[in-house]
Amino acid sequence: MPKLKLPAPPIPDRLNPRPKRPGSTKTKPLDVAAEAGISAIDWVDERTSLSQGARWMMFRKVPKGTNWFYTLGSSTMFAFLSQAVTGVFLAMYYRPDAAGGAYESIRYINNEVFLGEFVHGMHKWGSSVMVILIFLHMARTFFFGAYKYPRELNWVIGVALLILTMSMSFTGYLLPFDQRSYWATIVGVNINGTGPLVGPYLSDFLRAGPEFGATTLSRFYAIHMLLIPGALAALIGAHLYLVAKLGTTAPPWIKADAPVKREERA
Ligand code: HEM
Repeated sequence: MPKLKLPAPPIPDRLNPRPKRPGSTKTKPLDVAAEAGISAIDWVDERTSLSQGARWMMFRKVPKGTNWFYTLGSSTMFAFLSQAVTGVFLAMYYRPDAAGGAYESIRYINNEVFLGEFVHGMHKWGSSVMVILIFLHMARTFFFGAYKYPRELNWVIGVALLILTMSMSFTGYLLPFDQRSYWATIVGVNINGTGPLVGPYLSDFLRAGPEFGATTLSRFYAIHMLLIPGALAALIGAHLYLVAKLGTTAPPWIKADAPVKREERA
């Protein structure tokens, strides 16, 4: 069977430059600025063809029946981006020092740094928001049957994203290094240690040795701010590539071959 090749989706009208009104010769400073921006983007695009990729990613046909539940994936992504941005600012002041330095740096962020309490609050509450959103998104893809052929690989990538997100919450919880986070993490690491075969190795790895000590905090910090965010960003990229390549599934109550009514077609 010959492969069906669809034409590239058109750019929406409002993104195309408007033609000048007849007789208007004056050029406003704003037009000059816009023109400079367009030239700069054109310069980069001529050398990279990045706009083709952006069009492929953004101007896609979506199935009939697409609804608000389809925004849960992007919401999870924005929660992740917010965590990344607020995390960078927290890292400017945080010290992974188990001898009181970590606790003191969090106290300093909350009480002394300009907007510190706000940024810390966004990061702390944002982590719960991300966990809630990821579960809602997973429920949407499950109940809409989006895990079926040909999207199984995207479901598997999703499972990895879920485990990494939960690991972010687990490793982040220790960082304030107060009584609550210390004892909660000891419980968590011990639970990990009860796993079959890999359990004891896993808990040793997390503790950075047989005892819970100063290096445990540095290890959790490195895992929390370098290892997992890097893996999350890479996997989100792969996840979105597959979403763009395969398209999203129609809701289960929409029949694939349902005839489109005449008035809907117009
Ligand atoms: C950091 C976490 C995640 C991000 C940022 C993310 C992002 C997205 C986005 C933007 C979409 C496009 C459609 C939509 O928003 O519903 C999508 C689709 C999808 N996601 Fe995720 N996702 C994440 C986690 C997960 C998890 C945990 C699973 C399941 C275990 C999953 C499975 C899927 C599947 C199967 C699709 C295809 C949906 C369809 O074809 O209708 N994702 N994801």
